[in-house]
Amino acid sequence: MEIVRTVHEMQTYSDEVRAQGSITGLVPTMGYLHEGHLSLVRRAREDADIVIVSIFVNPTQFGPGEDLSTYPRDFESDVHLLEKENADVIFNPAVSGMYPEPSLTNVYVHKLTQGLCGADRPGHFEGVALVVAKLLNIVKPHKAFFGAKDFQQQAVIRRMVTDLNFDVEIVTCPVVRERDGLAMSSRNMYLTSDERERAAVLNQSLEEAERLIKEGERSVDAILNRMRTMIQSKNPVKIDYVSAVDPDTLEPVTGIRGPVLLAVAVRFGKARLVDNRLVEP
Ligand code: PAF
Repeated sequence: MEIVRTVHEMQTYSDEVRAQGSITGLVPTMGYLHEGHLSLVRRAREDADIVIVSIFVNPTQFGPGEDLSTYPRDFESDVHLLEKENADVIFNPAVSGMYPEPSLTNVYVHKLTQGLCGADRPGHFEGVALVVAKLLNIVKPHKAFFGAKDFQQQAVIRRMVTDLNFDVEIVTCPVVRERDGLAMSSRNMYLTSDERERAAVLNQSLEEAERLIKEGERSVDAILNRMRTMIQSKNPVKIDYVSAVDPDTLEPVTGIRGPVLLAVAVRFGKARLVDNRLVEP
């Protein structure tokens, strides 16, 4: 496995493997890898000849007061895990390499970034879209792999790729969960053991909502109120949102008439946790 640290070296490598006819897959990450990331790497291993994993804590997607400086990092462990998964390359650029100057170019995907996490984290998705656009241009993968836990993120990236004609296939992989159902996230490490236990309510509330819908409940208010009550009973610091949205537009739905994305963002202790579930009535 190679570790590539500069943009130029990464571009040269990608050009070479593409010229040889290899199918390349990119798994963009911010490191501190867990089973969720590794499931993306395994899928990339199945789909591509050359698997490139980027590890880059992207400053432009963190707002003022967010956890950029404390974001968990463990490069040595990441290398070890990726060696075991047979990844071919880790792309680990420096911030100064990715942003030699502050970017004057902004990638703003309208509408899809307005609600859900976009409302609580202004500028976040511009930062994500900018860095993913840069990574796609540097690595030039045939396929790029994202997790469904960050449903809004993958929707924004899909739309950016379509609108800007990036020549890449976006593959979205299922949420990977702990045994009690908590969605895996690097930010789970912020939780104390008590918060960690209480946080399992996020998935439980999504399961309950799915059960209600399958049993015929069609009132969005009734479903979201039930979810809020369940989550509130576990004393989170704050519920950022509990929403039911159209999975294509990410706009709130007023009734259950087709597939619906139930999405939550809740703060337990220092961690802001997100989760979602796509439900067919
Ligand atoms: O999901 C993440 O880890 C990040 O948002 C991503 C896609 C790697 C961009 O920095």
